[in-house]
Amino acid sequence: MSNSDGHSNSDPITGGRHESLGHVGIETSDGDLRNVYERWATTFNQDIEDDVKYVGHLSVCQVVVQYFPKEESSGTSQGSKGQRSSLKVIDIGAGTGLVGSLLAPEGFSQIDALDFSPKMLSKAGELGVYTSLIEANLNEELKIEKSSYDLAISAGTFTLGHVTAKCIPNILSVLKPGGLFIFTVREDLMQSEELKKFYGFPEYLKELESVGVLECVEQKDEMPYHLLAGKSFDRALNCTVFVCKKL
Ligand SMILES: C[S@@+](CC[C@H](N)C(=O)[O-])C[C@H]1O[C@@H](n2cnc3c(N)ncnc32)[C@H](O)[C@@H]1O
Repeated sequence: MSNSDGHSNSDPITGGRHESLGHVGIETSDGDLRNVYERWATTFNQDIEDDVKYVGHLSVCQVVVQYFPKEESSGTSQGSKGQRSSLKVIDIGAGTGLVGSLLAPEGFSQIDALDFSPKMLSKAGELGVYTSLIEANLNEELKIEKSSYDLAISAGTFTLGHVTAKCIPNILSVLKPGGLFIFTVREDLMQSEELKKFYGFPEYLKELESVGVLECVEQKDEMPYHLLAGKSFDRALNCTVFVCKKL
């Protein structure tokens, strides 16, 4: 079975993605990817629910609430200090705001959304859960106050044809020392040598760890991501959720 671009679904480089992502692969430019999301914003939520039952946002938020438990419960050691409402949070590659819609009812009340697609950001803004909407490209230096956030979260942004681990220093630049970056990496990015080398997981994280930039606090493999194979994949997909601390 082939996709519209003629590649087999099992092709590790270009196969296996929602049809709206068209020809997106490792060669796709930032401008072309942004255009894809500009066109997709209005139907994104429905498409990913109907097609693959995407749950990457649920997986990452499940980890976030464990690290930042409600005040009355005893939390894990790394992220438990402070009330959820006092934490400054940034949702990286926020898209239509699925992460914010889960975290706001949990008591996180200062969440900013960052994305390079104005139309995706506009959908996120309609939810009324984000404090501000930040249009920015993760592959460029972020023009955001340095060391200003307690927590950065990302769901679904480290995936085929999107950003690689090389943008992580940009994300860390806006985190306070000791702040956590909790994010998904779709499992296929770490399943072939070629994609591992291109996207940099987990090797580039280890490099950053060896030079004292971050600490990998936890790596949770086999977290649910796509519950169904859908039209463009030949199987359901899991993800890894990484928990990294800025040093
Ligand atoms: C698959 S969507 C995930 C959206 C949302 N986090 C979710 O879980 O539904 C990926 C998002 O990352 C954004 N994105 C991709 N590359 C980016 C980049 N270089 N800079 C900023 N945003 C980017 C896209 O615009 C898109 O909204």
